[in-house]
Amino acid sequence: MDEPSKKKLVNLKEFENIARRELPKDIYDYLSGGANDEITVHENHEAYSKIKLYPRVLKSVEKRDVSIQMMGKKIAMPIFIAPTAFHCLANEEGELATVKAAAMANTIMIVSMASTVSLERIANAAKNPKINKAPELWFQLYIQPDIEITKLFVKRAEDAGYSALVVTVDSPVFGKRERDIRNGFHMLPEGLSLKNFDDPKLLKFAKDKPTLILNAALTWSDIDKLKAITTLPVFIKGVVRPEDAELAIQHGVDGIIVSNHGGRQLDTIPATIELLPDIVAMVKGRIPVIIDGGIRRGTDVLKALALGANAVAIGRPILWGLAYDGESGVLQVLHNLKDELDLSMALCGCSSIKEINKSLIYTKTTF
Ligand code: FNR
Ligand code: LAC
Repeated sequence: MDEPSKKKLVNLKEFENIARRELPKDIYDYLSGGANDEITVHENHEAYSKIKLYPRVLKSVEKRDVSIQMMGKKIAMPIFIAPTAFHCLANEEGELATVKAAAMANTIMIVSMASTVSLERIANAAKNPKINKAPELWFQLYIQPDIEITKLFVKRAEDAGYSALVVTVDSPVFGKRERDIRNGFHMLPEGLSLKNFDDPKLLKFAKDKPTLILNAALTWSDIDKLKAITTLPVFIKGVVRPEDAELAIQHGVDGIIVSNHGGRQLDTIPATIELLPDIVAMVKGRIPVIIDGGIRRGTDVLKALALGANAVAIGRPILWGLAYDGESGVLQVLHNLKDELDLSMALCGCSSIKEINKSLIYTKTTF
């Protein structure tokens, strides 16, 4: 799998270091940076370091299983691929490399609407007969101001075999990305395009070239309208408050992703892991809760699950894996995190994901 020149990397930080070294600065900065002072970017991961584990011993952890059930399907690990834009920035093959790695790893890839390969081609690559297992693909949607355009995307995702829609709700407008302003980084660089918007059917809706629009007018009624035009389960991504989690359930949403967009939108919003417990307490197991932001270690995954998440998703590490070595790099990132999760489960006395619970989080001070 590895070329002889590619040494095996030990942890996700090493993938980031290589991406920083190898990618053009403006691209690395776009992929890894965040909003304003990047306080939330930093805290998302730092918050995990402050949480301490409290393991059990003598529990026979010889045989372990990190698989989970998600929306009725068995998934090999509770680590999904968060939707990120423009994979071709990190690697020529772009989303095609990512989806093949997702298939090999048997995990869920949430495909961004802002992909540099069309959603249909991504789904087809996943069906490659050389890959024995097709991955579960979910489609991330920015609800467009024109409902007809949204309908077209929903139909395309349904026809291409996507099994859920993920509506991102933390982006009525773009955050202030100061690295990009300084670098003069424009979305999208020469030679790349938002391939989903090349569909000729879109031409009748747009005066100029059809493109992705962030919709600052969205309300819960747009979620109702979306539910009415699709049979797919609808997740919303970007919920950080329990009141909004409850509203999501009232509006028939099928799952939520606790996310602050990796600190790229509103800076100084708390780390997602700090926000998770109140949301889990409100949701009470009625729908799945997924969390993303700053997850870089198997112990981070274990902590998120212990605090009540059903699964986690990773954004930037996938892009660093792509930059390192395309499909193989993404697979290495997923396996690295999965192996670390397995190891930390063994050391905490857990043989299965179901055994991970809040008692593994240390809450006492003994002095
Ligand atoms: C993102 N994210 C994102 N989210 C989304 O809903 N649609 C998108 O198109 C994108 N695009 C995007 C591009 C890049 C370069 C990054 C880094 C992030 C947010 C993403 O889904 C996720 O919430 C965060 O990346 C999670 O944090 P970590 O794992 O990157 O720390
Ligand atoms: C980003 C957008 C594309 O975070 O979601 O860059």
